[in-house]
Amino acid sequence: MFDTMTFTKVAAGLCGTFLVFLLGGWAGELLYHTGGGHGAEGEQAYVIDTGAEEGDAAPEEQVDFATLLASADPASGERVYAKCRACHKLDGTNGTGPHLDGVVGRAIGGVEGFAYSDALAGHGGDWTPEALDHWLENPKGYIPGNKMAFAGLKKIEDRADLVAYLQSVP
Ligand code: HEC
Repeated sequence: MFDTMTFTKVAAGLCGTFLVFLLGGWAGELLYHTGGGHGAEGEQAYVIDTGAEEGDAAPEEQVDFATLLASADPASGERVYAKCRACHKLDGTNGTGPHLDGVVGRAIGGVEGFAYSDALAGHGGDWTPEALDHWLENPKGYIPGNKMAFAGLKKIEDRADLVAYLQSVP
């Protein structure tokens, strides 16, 4: 049954398998070290997983409004207010929109004698800095059905500066 030829073939087969195994292991080790050590591939994998993307996104998306407001610049907020001036006054009289002096902390829809939409009149709550932030970012989205014809301020820095300015106008 086991003639020499069969034995030789089996032995050669085993040796071959072992050789492939060794080579594969060596090649794998080589790749592993290249990747983990000083290869660009390995380092990049780290950066994508934990570093750059989250780090980059955080300041733009996740900065808390109160933190920005604390260091906001009322003078540049006054320049942003130019976009509101056509409709809002700061001297206690109403125009197209209700007067905005003292608006920070005031009741939503709370100016006597101004004809608010039902959406604002029935809203309730106060104009906290956070509420103003959401309102000014997207008035239609924040309180649907209101009648303020204003698209919104995209930049959170502009909103923070503007609210800081409004806070300075009691
Ligand atoms: C085209 C005119 C117009 C512009 C521009 C405009 N508003 Fe208004 N605003 C209104 C009107 C009208 C209302 C009342 C909305 C309602 O009753 O639904 C209003 C309401 C408001 C209120 C709610 C006040 C309250 O007493 O509840 C705030 C706060 C406000 N606007 C802030 C701003 C700021 C800040 C800007 C500039 C970034 C601005 N608006 C730009 C017309 C305008």
